[in-house]
Amino acid sequence: MKLKLAGFMLVSLWAVNAHAQNGDAARGQQLSMQGDGSGAPCLACHGANGEGNAAGAFPRLAGLDDGYLYQTMQAYHEGKRTNPVMFMNIDNFNQQDMRDLAAYFASLTAPEPAKPSASAEQLALGEKLALQGDWDAYIPPCSTCHGPNNQGVDANFPGIAGQHASYIKQQLEMWQQGKRTSDPVQLMEAVAKRLSPEQIEAVAAYLASQPATQSAAQQ
Ligand code: HEC
Ligand code: HEC
Repeated sequence: MKLKLAGFMLVSLWAVNAHAQNGDAARGQQLSMQGDGSGAPCLACHGANGEGNAAGAFPRLAGLDDGYLYQTMQAYHEGKRTNPVMFMNIDNFNQQDMRDLAAYFASLTAPEPAKPSASAEQLALGEKLALQGDWDAYIPPCSTCHGPNNQGVDANFPGIAGQHASYIKQQLEMWQQGKRTSDPVQLMEAVAKRLSPEQIEAVAAYLASQPATQSAAQQ
């Protein structure tokens, strides 16, 4: 696993952003309830416990890596990850505010995964893509980068297990359409562009049904 990751030789490219820690989770909780002064409080969309919202395709934030949360908030803030809704909600926050918010959401426990609504065939196809890939189509297993159970590796490879299927699908389609471009190396663009619509549905449904963390798996 480590060797495979090293093979991609990515880590140094993000080293600048990788030190997001030192956030104050208690202050982050306060900020999440207040909002940035012009936007809405985070819980309006991301849920009272950071669980997100499947119907709205609002991502779960609870339990994601704090470094990832910080660097993706920074990307919205700088207009690199373009989403008018999220920009409006955090444009008045400073770097420390975003560190604190990241620490808060990272400290929350991810809820148990949703009960899958997909068929057994679809889930099996999704599992195969997530853990074995589709080498005929040059698609590596998602777990190569997102970790053994797709629960995330560090700030650069977010957990995608236990994320809402609607959000996963939407983000994969955004990469296909060239609408998510904040990652300087664009690793996901290459992967997403090789996925068929059926594969996107299947892998999103499978990942959403999986525990976000080891401890969620034991519950
Ligand atoms: C009005 C709804 C709304 C509110 C309020 C909101 N968000 Fe979001 N948030 C979204 C949407 C929609 C996305 C996905 C946007 C995209 O496609 O990039 C998102 C994405 C995110 C992401 C990226 C998650 C990931 O997995 O990459 C983070 C982090 C985030 N929001 C943090 C916050 C914080 C912190 C607050 C409060 C200060 C907040 N959001 C308030 C709607 C909202
Ligand atoms: C070569 C490495 C690599 C592989 C393989 C890979 N990913 Fe990713 N993925 C990334 C990186 C890096 C990011 C973070 C991108 C960013 O921050 O913009 C990411 C982000 C994502 C996100 C966004 C998560 C969020 O919270 O916004 C989704 C969804 C995703 N990947 C799905 C998949 C799926 C499904 C597969 C397998 C079919 C896969 N990835 C395979 C590297 C990879």
